[in-house]
Amino acid sequence: MSAPVLTFFNNKGGVGKTSLIYHLAWMFASLRKRVVIIDLDPQANLTAAFLDEDKIEAIWNQQNEGSTIYQCVKPLTDVGDIAEPVLQNVATDLYLLPGDVSLSGYEDTLSAEWPKSMGDSHLYRPMRILSSFWQVMKMAANKVQADIILVDIGPNLGAINRSVLIATDYVAIPLGADLFSLQGLKNLGPTLRSWRKLWQKRLDNWGEGAEKSTFPDFHLPQGKMQSVGYLCQQYGVRLNRPVKAYDKWVQRIPAVYRKYVLDEVVENNIRLEDDPYCLATIKHYRSLIPMAQEHRKPIFNLTSSDGAIGAHANAVQDAKKDFNLLAGKIADKMEITLTHHARVSSL
Ligand SMILES: Nc1ncnc2c1ncn2[C@@H]1O[C@H](COP(=O)(O)OP(=O)(O)OP(=O)(O)O)[C@@H](O)[C@H]1O
Ligand SMILES: [Mg+2]
Repeated sequence: MSAPVLTFFNNKGGVGKTSLIYHLAWMFASLRKRVVIIDLDPQANLTAAFLDEDKIEAIWNQQNEGSTIYQCVKPLTDVGDIAEPVLQNVATDLYLLPGDVSLSGYEDTLSAEWPKSMGDSHLYRPMRILSSFWQVMKMAANKVQADIILVDIGPNLGAINRSVLIATDYVAIPLGADLFSLQGLKNLGPTLRSWRKLWQKRLDNWGEGAEKSTFPDFHLPQGKMQSVGYLCQQYGVRLNRPVKAYDKWVQRIPAVYRKYVLDEVVENNIRLEDDPYCLATIKHYRSLIPMAQEHRKPIFNLTSSDGAIGAHANAVQDAKKDFNLLAGKIADKMEITLTHHARVSSL
């Protein structure tokens, strides 16, 4: 697949994954990149950010083949083949494959096929199901000649997320500055490494099996899941927490990230501000969040007619700079060239 896949992942909930993807998708599109967004969280919050309820209800009720991520893979649970994804063109260069509450039913199918994919024979069906999200991503990207695929998932380490990560080239980890986020990071790193290893075993098993020659056009993802870094929320669930508590947790992040995610020995204490793996610290956007939701826009596109005046207008410009910088950093890590970047960053 030519377009790289970036997934925002943390098994700790509410760390800003969906909001970040929403804003980055808009930013990449404004930088003239074609973006495909796949909502692989059965809660479908990202879909709700892009489409109004009537539209989502119509899509879910009609159950047309390929109209949601679940409607793409559903035929596989019977005797059918993956359905061609139907993308929603939500803005210029921005294409969404909607999420689906019914996707949670696919969790069992994926769990059942995981051990079967390590058998001696009949490997085609399990490998096809386990790689089905990747196959859909590839079809979607080819359809619109996408430059990047952004994926949102729910906060857990289940079989759906394992299959998404298998399909993922690059992983970014949003974090809160608290005990729960740090503890989550300690689970996340080893889980990613284990999924990478177990998928490699399956690729080897498939490679050595007899069926490979029967299906010469069947390709599989490499399961790279390369970690590009983390993003630290400056806001917390408990907003009235003293600043000291925030600092205490924040300064532990670089070492925990290196040890548990990168499996590196940590010798010196690296400060978050100096850490190249820290992609961004995310500001608290306060009332700009509901304002942006109401107008169905990213924060950085709010105008005075939307209510962004005075201090809000300055915050909008700051958000534009911050997300522009973040898109640039992520593009570098993913080896995507942004030809329009300089123009926007001079704002
Ligand atoms: N920079 C920000 N400033 C203020 N509030 C924010 C910011 N980013 C996200 N939020 C709010 O925090 C909440 C959680 O954000 P979001 O839904 O993006 O997290 P998530 O990690 O996707 O959650 P889940 O794990 O449930 O999928 C939302 O109500 C969102 O509007
Ligand atoms: Mg979310």
